[in-house]
Amino acid sequence: MTGTWVPAGVDITKPSAARVYDCLLGGGHNFPADRHVADFIVTRLPWAREIAGSNRAFLRRAVLFMAEQGITRYLDLGSGIPTVGNVHEIAQRAYPDSRVVYVDYEPVAVAHSELLLSDNDRAAVVRADLTDADGVLSADAVRDLFDTGEPIGLLMVAVHHFVPDEKDPAALVARYRDALPPGSHVAISHLTADHDPDGMAAVTRSMADGPDPMYFRTFDRVAELFDGMDLVEPGLVDAPRWRPEPGITGAGLVRGVYAGVARVRGGAAGPG
Ligand SMILES: C[S@@+](CC[C@H](N)C(=O)[O-])C[C@H]1O[C@@H](n2cnc3c(N)ncnc32)[C@H](O)[C@@H]1O
Repeated sequence: MTGTWVPAGVDITKPSAARVYDCLLGGGHNFPADRHVADFIVTRLPWAREIAGSNRAFLRRAVLFMAEQGITRYLDLGSGIPTVGNVHEIAQRAYPDSRVVYVDYEPVAVAHSELLLSDNDRAAVVRADLTDADGVLSADAVRDLFDTGEPIGLLMVAVHHFVPDEKDPAALVARYRDALPPGSHVAISHLTADHDPDGMAAVTRSMADGPDPMYFRTFDRVAELFDGMDLVEPGLVDAPRWRPEPGITGAGLVRGVYAGVARVRGGAAGPG
């Protein structure tokens, strides 16, 4: 590590999705290159911070919903840099025995997660590429998570817009879905350009040359990610409209992220 939290070998002159998102959320684990991109995004998409916040708030509500369904095991793919409202904090507040495995390929996100989780024996982080589903599902921590066949809360929140069509995002979700035990739930959110093509095109351009190019999708393309599962009410909607907490005002109603939670049908074969 260099400094207190930067892993050796990280090129901090190149913006990463994890750190730009951290910056948009008001976090402190980002560098000038990330802040430059975040500032640029805000000039072209003035409500970018609110969109990021609405996504993070959806993640929280999705975990609380899953906890209400009795889920105590979570696999968070593309978990990002720990920030306010991490999955293990939400889940372990609901059920102290809840277990969480985070997966990300960004070294700063992983290093900071390791620091945060060092005294939590029910949460772990794995550095892996989520598009390698077989690799993720065979990681020791993930196999341990699946070991009793209890339902899993699978979180793929704001990650598929980093997965190009060549990697077939719907097939990727299906590979994970088919490994889940009965009663599992899947939460997905995805950025879209449906409501502001120009603003979102600026976001795409700002990330195009970095390690995390982005691919926004339409409502129908995002809906395909839930194939073979049953969306719970209210279905796939703008993130702020997914089971909003009482008292949420118009300030939270930005558009730009579709979000939904689905229940997995039937049984499954396990991680394989
Ligand atoms: C916008 S952040 C979302 C973080 C968190 N899921 C949330 O919604 O608050 C996207 C994260 O996905 C990670 N990511 C993107 N593509 C990935 C991949 N192929 N494998 C693992 N992580 C990936 C990035 O490094 C980043 O931390």
